[in-house]
Amino acid sequence: MDAQKAPRATTNRSTTPRSDSFKDYISSRWADRDEVMPAAREEAAYAAARRARLSELHRGERLVVPAGRAKVRSNDCDYPFRAHSAFAHLTGWGSATVPGSVLVLEPTDEGHDATLYFRASAGRESDEFYADPEIGEFWTGPRPSLAQVGADLALATRELAELDAVVASSSAATLVLREADPELTARVDAVVAAAADASGLAGTDADETSVDVDVLARDASELRLVKDAWEVAQMRQAVAVTGRGFSDVIADFEDIVAHPRGERLVEGTFNRRARADGNTVGYDTIAAAGDHACVLHWTRNDGPVADGDLILIDAGIELDSLYTADITRTLPVSGRFSDVQRLVYEAVLEAADAAFAIVRPGIAFREIHAAAMQVIAERTAEWGFLPVSAEESLEPDHQYHRRYMVHGTSHHLGMDVHDCAAARRDLYLDGVLEPGMVFTIEPGLYFQPDDLTVPEEFRGIGVRIEDDILVTADGAENLSVGIPRTVADVEAWIARP
Ligand code: GLY
Ligand code: MN
Ligand code: MN
Repeated sequence: MDAQKAPRATTNRSTTPRSDSFKDYISSRWADRDEVMPAAREEAAYAAARRARLSELHRGERLVVPAGRAKVRSNDCDYPFRAHSAFAHLTGWGSATVPGSVLVLEPTDEGHDATLYFRASAGRESDEFYADPEIGEFWTGPRPSLAQVGADLALATRELAELDAVVASSSAATLVLREADPELTARVDAVVAAAADASGLAGTDADETSVDVDVLARDASELRLVKDAWEVAQMRQAVAVTGRGFSDVIADFEDIVAHPRGERLVEGTFNRRARADGNTVGYDTIAAAGDHACVLHWTRNDGPVADGDLILIDAGIELDSLYTADITRTLPVSGRFSDVQRLVYEAVLEAADAAFAIVRPGIAFREIHAAAMQVIAERTAEWGFLPVSAEESLEPDHQYHRRYMVHGTSHHLGMDVHDCAAARRDLYLDGVLEPGMVFTIEPGLYFQPDDLTVPEEFRGIGVRIEDDILVTADGAENLSVGIPRTVADVEAWIARP
């Protein structure tokens, strides 16, 4: 049994012929395949530079970065496979990654040698190609050869089966990116523990690999805090196609309003664009009409969309490279904001603009949130919603205004919608901005339908405006500024046929 492959129950539904005559028959008379050898993809050189930076952090250590495996949805049906972002970042292999692949950086005197282990094309003489629904090429399509992937990614490649010898020779100097493939991690841990037992070192520092802290996940996260030029171009592309998805939704408003589950149509229309122009959505779309907008992660999306409602749409398209946008627009379905909707919308826009205005290299990440909160506190105080003044509310011990916006203002963005999540706090929340960082600015105001601290006409209104921001050499660029965001531009966007 292949150690990189879990057993699946499929025998209840159908049987595969096992006779020798069938095997001979199905294994024969296949035309040779032309092996087209690709040129190295543009990202390959960037991925090599990223590996070199990781190599510098871990001289003398073997680094194992798995892509991970497909996750079971039920029985022998999987969720769509998506490679771990660290693997994709360090190899340049995105949506086409073969499940179960593993990147190994083997220490050398100069740094590390990189080898990509993956399950290459099996050949028709094996029974895998027709009898294995999980990986057989008859079932899941042809896989590339070692040479093709090696040329494409400019990486040394080996058959996945050869990884067994790597696992068997694991030592305390082997670091696995643990969260990506728990089964492979457990195999490495078992070898390391057995070696420690045998040497009598168990319980000493020598067996403290990355078990307590996923050191590689942390370092791979931190490596992504600053995007390279290729990544920035991908982010621009992800934002551009996401903008198209929003326009598609607006173009469908008539059908959306007519359907009893209009929110589902919003999700479906956006998803159509995501699958057509990208890999998929970068996270579950939030299509929240009316007071559903006050539910921060409303992804059930099973409500109607009525004329007169605001609809909050938080959606992003992930490209084949796995980079994703993360955009929120809050739209008046009728095409015009009511007075109170506009008042709330303008306050949120003011908070977003105030936060954006301070972004430049050298400021602390947390200052962005503080700038947005200043506006949120001032406006909610001015409307009489707070028991104290804005200044008092902003004091750490009070924060009454946060009743109306309990979430943060910004998170890093890239391959993961909440990118760089394993980075240390002093580099992320307490970190300082550098050119090439990409993050969201996404203030909001949410007045719950049963919130007695606000007048009735505010209740059930939820507004968020979320943009994707690039830190430049001397300031910032709003990558999503082209997706309408002012009251006038939003109304014009919806009015356009
Ligand atoms: N779409 C999730 C977020 O905005 O963080
Ligand atoms: Mn976000
Ligand atoms: Mn979002």
